[in-house]
Amino acid sequence: MKILAFNGSPRVSSSSTRQLLLAACEGAEGAGATTTVIDIGELDIGYCNGCGSCHITGECVLDDDFEAVYYQFLNADGIIFSSPVYINSVTAQLKTVFDRLSDAVHCQRLSGKYGCSLSTAGGALAEEVAEYQNGVIRMLGGTTVGSLGVNIMGDPAAVDAAIPAATALGADLAAAIREQRTYPEQEEERRIRREHMIELVRSNKNEWKSEYEYWENQGAYSDR
Ligand SMILES: Cc1cc2nc3c(=O)[nH]c(=O)nc-3n(C[C@H](O)[C@H](O)[C@H](O)COP(=O)(O)O)c2cc1C
Repeated sequence: MKILAFNGSPRVSSSSTRQLLLAACEGAEGAGATTTVIDIGELDIGYCNGCGSCHITGECVLDDDFEAVYYQFLNADGIIFSSPVYINSVTAQLKTVFDRLSDAVHCQRLSGKYGCSLSTAGGALAEEVAEYQNGVIRMLGGTTVGSLGVNIMGDPAAVDAAIPAATALGADLAAAIREQRTYPEQEEERRIRREHMIELVRSNKNEWKSEYEYWENQGAYSDR
């Protein structure tokens, strides 16, 4: 059981969010998973330039570290996103990875997979930004098991106090993967999004050849 954990904070050695992420990974490992942490800021990952090549060929035209990360992403059973709140959102580092996942959204590449998200904020919105990250996991077709946001508000003990919850979240992610747990409240949203993507790709089939082939191989068009 492989879990890929993304750290969106550029402050790798002193990051509060990364501390929560490592605790979640420890929890997941204790529940039988193997975890890999990706420190996005240490990698060379460029901005999506919106060229649309990934929809056509399945590959990105940019020659950087994303390809290796994407390979791990496709082979993971679970994903953890973590980011501090930067100007009411995730860091540019994590958003840059999100933008490189457009083809993965069209093909719902996290279908059957699970994830959770973490955030810290100096002031406010940590829970909202953690939930935003979970929304990205669901946008990719995945199922989210929970999120944790910590508003530090000048209290250095706030992150330490949240470590047990982060550990429990990671353990629960591993348990959900093992049990192939279902979350009925997410099912309808996922069904609608999947149908939408299948139709979107079909309506662009002459251009988005790679994505059409992907869904065709999944049998998505056999009864239409
Ligand atoms: C560029 C920048 C923007 C920030 N924007 C916000 C913000 O909008 N709201 C907030 O509450 N804290 C904000 N913060 C504070 C961080 O969210 C907070 O320090 C966080 O815990 C840092 O996480 P890290 O230790 O994992 O890097 C910002 C910090 C930086 C450096």
